[in-house]
Amino acid sequence: MTGTTTHFGFQTVPEDEKAGKVQGVFTSVASRYDLMNDVMSAGIHRLWKDAMMDWLAPRPGQRLLDVAGGTGDISFRFLRRAGTGHATVLDLTEPMLVEGRKRAEAARLSDSLDWVVGDAMALPFADSSFDVYTISFGIRNVTRPEVALQEAFRVLRPGGRLMVLEFSKVPNPALRRLYDLYSFHVIPRMGAAIAGDRDSYQYLVESIRRFPDQETFLSMIRAAGFANAGYRNLTMGVACLHSGWKL
Ligand SMILES: C[S@@+](CC[C@H](N)C(=O)[O-])C[C@H]1O[C@@H](n2cnc3c(N)ncnc32)[C@H](O)[C@@H]1O
Repeated sequence: MTGTTTHFGFQTVPEDEKAGKVQGVFTSVASRYDLMNDVMSAGIHRLWKDAMMDWLAPRPGQRLLDVAGGTGDISFRFLRRAGTGHATVLDLTEPMLVEGRKRAEAARLSDSLDWVVGDAMALPFADSSFDVYTISFGIRNVTRPEVALQEAFRVLRPGGRLMVLEFSKVPNPALRRLYDLYSFHVIPRMGAAIAGDRDSYQYLVESIRRFPDQETFLSMIRAAGFANAGYRNLTMGVACLHSGWKL
């Protein structure tokens, strides 16, 4: 016990308990995770992930580290766009990786993938080992996002690229009210009906509200050492892509 606290959704918890709680959430939803993403977002998460690839523009032969990679959505897209290359999917929650491995086998992508259980805050890789680092809907779950960003910087080679896809802040107040109504009244009920788990989806919507807005997160990326950093809003700021380079 460190004595320091942090947030887990709207709850305050000891910092050293957060990762276990996050793991509990994703262990509980792993088998229904992909289905829930499609239902909750009406398939829009696929467009956001495609937009991430459009900006990233994967090139043949690149080595990707996809942190909090879960069931592999980002790595699969990356490999298809790059044509040749390699992706390492790292995640805290083994049942998410187990689901991903099944999908990789079905898609005949297994030879280009590694699956690693690990923590974004202490990556088990040497300095300068990857060309690209992605984290999609993962960083808001990490106990200390600033430490994850420092780790991203460390494992990227000079010239390597960071790209983060995360929920963000809707700047328009009227749209934000509608979005809040949907988030707090509809999503937890869908979680109960489809994944049999209301609490995990309540955590999901609360954790989104606790995550820094676009500009604050941009300053965190710069503080970790990334150059030429910038962001693009998706669906009026519901989600956002942040990019930076290790130069
Ligand atoms: C919402 S899912 C995102 C999965 C996938 N990237 C996607 O976009 O569909 C969040 C993932 O982050 C993982 N995660 C949470 N905290 C983590 C940490 N500290 N290190 C690594 N993975 C973590 C969870 O286990 C979960 O699989």
